[in-house]
Amino acid sequence: MNDMDKAKKLAGEEAVHYVKNEMKVGLGSGSTVYWMIRKLGELVQQGLDIEGIPSSNQTAQWAKDFGVPLTDFSKVAQLDITIDGADEVDRDFHLIKGGGGALFREKVIAMAAKELIIIVDKSKLVPHLGSYPLPVEVLPFGWEVTAKNIALLGAQPIIRKKDEQIFVSDNGNYILDCSFGEINDPKKLHKQLIQLVGVVETGLFVNMANTVIVSNGSEVEVITS
Ligand code: A5P
Repeated sequence: MNDMDKAKKLAGEEAVHYVKNEMKVGLGSGSTVYWMIRKLGELVQQGLDIEGIPSSNQTAQWAKDFGVPLTDFSKVAQLDITIDGADEVDRDFHLIKGGGGALFREKVIAMAAKELIIIVDKSKLVPHLGSYPLPVEVLPFGWEVTAKNIALLGAQPIIRKKDEQIFVSDNGNYILDCSFGEINDPKKLHKQLIQLVGVVETGLFVNMANTVIVSNGSEVEVITS
């Protein structure tokens, strides 16, 4: 295991300390979350009584694999905590997410939670957002038009592909990876994007994270806002 994988594992496993009995837990997506769910499964086997709501089909599968009970928003109005990864975290805890294409459901479970804990390896901490192209989920119909309108805001949108086919999100939508360069005002950019016809959600998570758990592969640091 390389240092980055060790860091993801350490950060993910640290996060389960925030999960208490009877909590409803939002389960994020991605390779750091994998370690969190695996550890959570161990605690459930030892008697921890929780239910999770997954943010992707992959996460739901991992939860089943590791024995973490799942529920949904028809039965749960509010989550106690959501634990998720990120692609970038700036100094104000604003985030870019969606590298795995699960940003819409990730935002729903983040908004529905009393507390959002972000788990990352150290490479994700940045002074300003924007080196990582911003994922924007768009409706398939007319995505080319939506991409042109996003370009007018100063980005270079690229349709996400997987195995040479257009990548389709769990919601049946497409993802445009949009390089804006340095994002100085993430709140303003999110507002501009979200009002465009065809945009479902953006990967900008502004003023949502409460705690960031970061690791370099040997140590773990917990930073609170
Ligand atoms: C999934 O859509 C993303 O938001 C992930 O949370 C993000 O890409 C972090 O993934 P890793 O933990 O795999 O780096």
